[in-house]
Amino acid sequence: MLYSEDLNVVYVNNEKRLLSNIDHDITLLDWLRTNQKLKGTKEGCAEGDCGACSVLVHDGLNSEVKPINSCLVRLGQVVGKGIITVEGVGNEKKPHPLQTAFIKENASQCGYCTPGFIISGISLLNSKKDVNDNSINDAISGNLCRCTGYSPIVKALKSVANNNKEIKPKHFVEQNNDIQLGMVTYCNPINLGELKQLTNKKNFRFLAGGTDLNLQRPIINEVKNTIINLSNIKELKEIEIQGNNLLLGSAVSIEDFLEIIKDKIPELIELLQRFGSPQIRNQGTIGGNLCTSSPIGDIAPVLLALNSKLNIFSREGTKKVYLRDFYTGYRKNILNKDEIISSIEIPLPKKDYNLFCWKLSKRYDQDISTISLTVYIKIKDQIIDDIHLAAGGIAEIPKTLEGLCKDMIGQELDKSISLAINDIKSHIKPISDIRGTADYRIEAFRGLFKRLQKCLVDDVNTLSIMEYNDE
Ligand SMILES: Cc1cc2nc3c(=O)[nH]c(=O)nc-3n(C[C@H](O)[C@H](O)[C@H](O)COP(=O)(O)OP(=O)(O)OC[C@H]3O[C@@H](n4cnc5c(N)ncnc54)[C@H](O)[C@@H]3O)c2cc1C
Ligand code: FES
Ligand code: FES
Repeated sequence: MLYSEDLNVVYVNNEKRLLSNIDHDITLLDWLRTNQKLKGTKEGCAEGDCGACSVLVHDGLNSEVKPINSCLVRLGQVVGKGIITVEGVGNEKKPHPLQTAFIKENASQCGYCTPGFIISGISLLNSKKDVNDNSINDAISGNLCRCTGYSPIVKALKSVANNNKEIKPKHFVEQNNDIQLGMVTYCNPINLGELKQLTNKKNFRFLAGGTDLNLQRPIINEVKNTIINLSNIKELKEIEIQGNNLLLGSAVSIEDFLEIIKDKIPELIELLQRFGSPQIRNQGTIGGNLCTSSPIGDIAPVLLALNSKLNIFSREGTKKVYLRDFYTGYRKNILNKDEIISSIEIPLPKKDYNLFCWKLSKRYDQDISTISLTVYIKIKDQIIDDIHLAAGGIAEIPKTLEGLCKDMIGQELDKSISLAINDIKSHIKPISDIRGTADYRIEAFRGLFKRLQKCLVDDVNTLSIMEYNDE
């Protein structure tokens, strides 16, 4: 692995910037604003919620640019990458057509949110997606505007849908070097061999996207620390179909997972589209989501219901563990300090089964679940032939509901769901927290079973609470 101060660079708006003389661990946002004097990128919440800090990231290989929240990314994570800020999109003398459209459509008032919206808009215009209400709403779902209102913003975006508006990131050869920033050394291995060499260090932590861990940053900064960044390890980014299984590297981003499942597990699209925002989904990974061991993480219940297995890697080799045996308590799992999830084996849903993946949160977008439920069910002549239920927010860990499944198998569909609705309290033990009390969660969970009854018995498709009309 390369280690040289001179080689530590970030390409900002297609210009090479050396990372030297930085004596403290710093967010990408603070570095852009204070060291690079690029003040167009704003800080609002500093927690990934408002999008004011959005920038585009690219790897120098192709023209693909992805929006991320620069407040959630540490500078040490983007060594060797390309960053495009709003200044790189256009300026007063030579504005990008989208910036001109914002002026024309009165899409900005105080202007604080505007750079973030421009970045999100540009990422959509640069993508291969059609520009319509659906794709615009999704593209800007991680951006908050408090004074303009969203209609003029959507109008501005639509008005440039057919212009030649691509921005062209510079091509370069990415070098993922190590860098020391204050108390923290960032190691950026690019393969599992390099990773093995690092895990004999004393005080280290793994980091993938950092959308969870970086929120706890003050704790990490108190002592000398090594952060091992998993997100550049090529083996952890692999995606393969092996027979009836989808093999997914743990560092695959949520956004890339969303693209893959569009034809493999379409029932999962809505849940993943509601995962955070594009900025969070580009940065956050599947492995990171499972390893937060949060009882309300969105991915675990789906993978539990499909009976997925994890490949766990360490210097000693790789072992297989069922996801159902992974969690040991509130935010705890079986991993030893030097072990990582390297990949996940997900059995693809069978054709004669129905799959429902539902999430209930306080907001439609940009919010983790209060509760969630995945139902994987086979029905034969109105009898439940097989059923797998898994849920989030109903205990200290994401869980399968094996007892309830046993009670339901072999029973008449309608009667069996009614029994589950009446009996739900005896199968779950939710915690009370900031998102909801235990009592609220029990009632809401009951509601999801009523929804299941509507879908399967009354044949009412209540899959989406959001209906967009493109006209
Ligand atoms: C604004 C916002 C919105 C969010 N919305 C959602 C949402 O809708 N749904 C949801 O479920 N979550 C949500 N999250 C939480 C978070 O984004 C996800 O959990 C994300 O998937 C975490 O992945 P990461 O790669 O960023 O994890 P990181 O922060 O990098 O890591 C999380 C933990 O896992 C460990 N880790 C990471 N990868 C591995 C690995 N391969 N092996 C071993 N350990 C590992 C790290 O050491 C760390 O302890 C949101 C977060 C924010 C800030
Ligand atoms: S400052 Fe709000 S998302 Fe980064
Ligand atoms: S224009 Fe003021 S917050 Fe959006």
